[in-house]
Amino acid sequence: MLATTYTVAFSGVDVLKISTEVQLTNGLPSFTIVGLADKAIAESRERVRAALHSLGMMLPAQHITVNLAPADVVKEGTHYDLPIAVALLAAMGVIEPATISSFIMMGELGLDGSIRAVSGVLPAAMAAMRAGMGIVCPAEQGKEAGWAEATPLLAPQNLIQLINYFKNNTPIPMPSATDELFQENTFMDLSEIKGQEIAKRALEVAAVGGHNMLMIGPPGSGKSMLASRLATILPPMTKNEMLEVSQIHSIAGKLRDGHLITTRPFRAPHHSATTPALVGGGSSAKPGEISLAHRGILFLDELPEFSRATLESLRQPLETGSISVSRANAHVSYPARFQLIAAMNPCRCGYLGVSGHECARAPKCGAEYLAKLSGPLLDRIDLQVEVPAVNPWELTFIPKGETSAVVRERVQKARAFAGERFKNTPYTNNAQADGAFLEKIAPMEADALKLLQQAAEKLNLSARGYHRIIRVARTIADMTESEQITKIHISEALSFRTPLQRN
Ligand SMILES: Nc1ncnc2c1ncn2[C@@H]1O[C@H](COP(=O)(O)OP(=O)(O)OP(=O)(O)O)[C@@H](O)[C@H]1O
Ligand SMILES: [Mg+2]
Repeated sequence: MLATTYTVAFSGVDVLKISTEVQLTNGLPSFTIVGLADKAIAESRERVRAALHSLGMMLPAQHITVNLAPADVVKEGTHYDLPIAVALLAAMGVIEPATISSFIMMGELGLDGSIRAVSGVLPAAMAAMRAGMGIVCPAEQGKEAGWAEATPLLAPQNLIQLINYFKNNTPIPMPSATDELFQENTFMDLSEIKGQEIAKRALEVAAVGGHNMLMIGPPGSGKSMLASRLATILPPMTKNEMLEVSQIHSIAGKLRDGHLITTRPFRAPHHSATTPALVGGGSSAKPGEISLAHRGILFLDELPEFSRATLESLRQPLETGSISVSRANAHVSYPARFQLIAAMNPCRCGYLGVSGHECARAPKCGAEYLAKLSGPLLDRIDLQVEVPAVNPWELTFIPKGETSAVVRERVQKARAFAGERFKNTPYTNNAQADGAFLEKIAPMEADALKLLQQAAEKLNLSARGYHRIIRVARTIADMTESEQITKIHISEALSFRTPLQRN
């Protein structure tokens, strides 16, 4: 007897349909799983055996062969338990094979027949919806699958509930309603940051143009505070973006309680993070921090403390918006279009430039510390701003500044103005513009050009540094809805350079 169920395998964020064929033949009793299955799937035999036992059923005293097809696709994870068990039940004649063929199934089995959470339910449900199939997933992930709108959606607590549905049409309780989509982040607000007007302005420029930003300042000056507020002034994600981001988190096993990711991700990995933790891959391929930060912010605090190799691995994704990692037997790629916000102290002890606190090695120590960062990485960071220490009395006497909501409105307006020029182009923001396209979108008034050329000569700007100023000036002009770049825009763009900057 042969029966087939369907499930999925993941290659990066791509979903591949997998058929789970179970055949019972006469011969010595055995239970074999073939089809490039990893160890977790091999162990699935024991879970399936125990789950059936808990239902009072024995495995047939026959030769059981499970084939996961196509056989040349690597299969990993524990979600194959459920499709294997259901196909086996159909092969045993417990369930009618025709009733199960229009579902994508995934779930891990407990020894008592319960169905446990697995990663990747959302992308699997979306694949089911596109293929016009239903989805069977663990009860606690019913809400997550619900976002994909695949029908029917079955979210059983245990195997017995599912068998009863297929045998007697006993309904399975539907997951409760999904939650509100647009949620305001109420935990943090830009208005909590006192003073630091230049840094706040730079943050707004970064939000409008999508520029990467590096903040340099002594300890306790508010760099981490500023970075964590960027997400609050960015426009909210669209539903498609939410689904895209949530799918990545689902594959990484990081979607909690069926909630979609509704606010832009903010990821702040520690500087001891390894390269696979940051960019993804490793022994079991999972999205790294940069992919979890997709459509949001990757905050690297204490930038020079990250290992150089780890930082260099960011160069490709910063350019292309995706990361491709090689594994022993496959290449997988994950989306990684994030905005990089980095922070660092000006030197190892942190107090270079703060009078009375500098160490004996100043100012050489600052140059040495910055030299830990490679030129090509710094080249990809358009905004490099100083965040000086705030006086404690300023914290008391400076009134609260603008709220995130006010700034976000301005950001949205400027983005809408800029958005027109990206229609029918591969670009989505000023930060991505380069070369001929940048020249085309950045018409300059004569005295603006003159100022830029003077500055280029005086500061000995490289071609990249020159273009960086134009990109930032383009964004600043967008904030006043000006097509032409004026002298004022260029001079503000020039002010977003630190004295430590090398080109
Ligand atoms: N401009 C500010 N307005 C209000 N509070 C501030 C400001 N700057 C610093 N603080 C206070 O100081 C604390 C430390 O700030 P934060 O962690 O952002 O500093 P940092 O620049 O990241 O320091 P480090 O270099 O040590 O990482 C904040 O939690 C906040 O309480
Ligand atoms: Mg900090």
